Formats: sequence, structure tokens, C-alpha cells
Amino acid sequence: GKSGYDHYMLKEIHEQPRSLRQCLSGRLDELDGRITVEELDEFDTPNSVQFVACGTSYHAALYGAQLLRARGVPANAYYAHEYATGPAPVSADDLVIGVTQSGETADTLSALRTAAGRGAETLVLTNVVGSTAARECDHVVYIRAGPEIGVAATKTFTSQLVGLNLLAARLSDGGSDRRRGLVDALRGVPNGVQAVLDESEAAAVVEEFADSEAFFFLGRGLDYPVALEGALKFKEITYEHAEGFAAGELKHGPLALVTADTPVFAVVTGDGETARKTVGNVKEVEARDAPVVVVTDGAAEAGRYADYVLEIPKTDERLAPLLANVQLQLVAYHMAAGLDRAIDKPRHLAKSVTVE
Ligand code: F6R
Repeated sequence: GKSGYDHYMLKEIHEQPRSLRQCLSGRLDELDGRITVEELDEFDTPNSVQFVACGTSYHAALYGAQLLRARGVPANAYYAHEYATGPAPVSADDLVIGVTQSGETADTLSALRTAAGRGAETLVLTNVVGSTAARECDHVVYIRAGPEIGVAATKTFTSQLVGLNLLAARLSDGGSDRRRGLVDALRGVPNGVQAVLDESEAAAVVEEFADSEAFFFLGRGLDYPVALEGALKFKEITYEHAEGFAAGELKHGPLALVTADTPVFAVVTGDGETARKTVGNVKEVEARDAPVVVVTDGAAEAGRYADYVLEIPKTDERLAPLLANVQLQLVAYHMAAGLDRAIDKPRHLAKSVTVE
């Protein structure tokens, strides 16, 4: 049942501290700062990595590719349904990683089969033991999020992000992460999510936007996939027009859409140059009179330039986007609840898309 929550989606949002603890269980070694992914004993660093995925899982894949590139492993993310529209960009010494919570998405299975047919090694990051992808791929890593009933993916997405951090550490240097402090930061993520859940002002903020025309979501770097995911979740369950953009892309076109009737959610986390540049974009939309909500850990004092601030606790800059995502889950949920939408079963959508 829904354990007293109005919707499965809200229940699953609140389950995240627990689902993330499950994802991390037994995989972090406090003593020597090692990350263990038991499913990947004896795995060599790949030549290059390609991610294939759809929807929310594609956003996780975009994030995962950035994590690997930051560790010196060439990596790209592809929509699974675009992967083989031309010659698949894969060779026999690549590792192809499917990100699919269900393990049954037809487009993703098809891309993984194409890669396997070209001689590439395949790995799937999934939630479902015994799923088709888990059976067909050479390797499988489980995100252990538990069953997700709401059509809109929430806890599976955050577990994918954590799972991708584990994978990136494991694939790039055998999992030793002492120096970078990732192990300690990962251990703190469940409490960080709990703090966001306890203190979020998302419900009050969205009440201001009942009559808005469209909603835009911006982010740069690791915040970019979270902006895309914020927009996807929002459009899926509110049926309002929402779009996510790479913050830097704004002045190359989308800025023409920005008015006083288009709230902009800007995700600004981490340190330094990347955050400062996004603050520059925030100023651009402010100048067009858009109401601006900044989701931030305080980076580049982004809150000073916003009409509303949704705060997240400070953490490792690889994990701050995960906490920002939880704020955006709540933004989408409360907006949809205010509009009385069918939150757990949005129109036209299915939980698992088993046709291409
Ligand atoms: C959105 C959502 C979908 C799925 C997509 C892929 O909330 O859930 O976009 O992410 O259909 O599904 P999986 O991860 O099962 O391959």
C-alpha cells in the first residue's frame, strides 16, 4: 500500500534514504576507502564506455558519462533508440553500459544486442533481478532500489546516480577512492536526502506558479542531466509545458521563450567556474523578468540572484546534483498534486516500454 501517502510517487520519494542505504550496503569500505562492486570482481578498465538508455535512465547515463570522463575514461551517452539509426559507434574493445531500471525497455535491449553483435562487452545497471537485460548482458550491477510503483521514476533515478558513482570508481581505478573522499560523501547521501525531505519548501514555491505558461530547467556540467530530469518529471505528471536546457545553450535560442510567465528553475551546485557561469545565465533570465528558482548548495552565492531558493546541504560536488534532483522531484510532485493530476499513472504513459 501507500503507507499513508497520497500517492506511490510521494511514498517512493520518501523511501529514498532507505533505498540509497540499500544501494550502498556492503559496497563501501570505511577502513581503506575502497569501493567494492561485488558483481564486478576482476574487471579491467575499459578502453572507452558507451551508455545506452531512455528517458530518466538516459539522464542518469549522461551523468555517468561525465563521471567517467572526469576520471580519464572516454565515455558517451546515447539514446538507445538513436544508437543504431546509423552504423553503431562501437568496436570490440568498448564497454557498452545499458542503464535501465526495469531491464525490459525494448529500445535499450535492442541497443545492447547491437553492441554485443559488434563484439563489445555489455553491462547493465538495473533494478530488476532476472530481467531480460540482466540475463542477456555479460555483467550486471544492481541498484537495489526496491519495487517502484509510480510510473514517474524517482528512487530508481537516485539509486542509478549512486550506482554510477560506484561503477565509475570501480571502472577507473579499481575502486580506491580514499583521496577523493567519495566514500565518505556517499555514506552521507541518505542523510542528505533526508534533510532535503524534511526541509524542502518546494510545495510553497510552486503555489506561486499556478498560472504560468511554461517552465524551464537549467543546469551545467553534472547539473545539466538533473535539469533535464527535472523538466521530464514535471511535464510527465503536471501536463504543463516544461523544458530542460544546458544553461549555456540559453542564449543560442531558448532565451526567446523566457518571459515573466515562464518560471525558470536553475540548478547550481558544486564549486567554482561552472557554478559562476550558470549564475551568469540566471542573471540573463532575471533580466527578462522570469521568476527564478535556484536549487543550490550555496555555490557561487547563486541564491542572491534568485526570487526563490531551494536549498540542499553541501556535499561532494559529484553528489550535490542528486540532492538537487530530490528538490525537483518535490517540485513536480507538488505542482501535479495542486493540479489534481493522476500522479501515479500519467496519461499515455506506461511503467515499462516493451515495444520499440
Ligand atoms: C520517466 C520514466 C521513463 C523511463 C524510461 C526508461 O519517469 O520512468 O522515462 O526512465 O522509460 O525505463 P527503464 O529505466 O526501465 O529502461
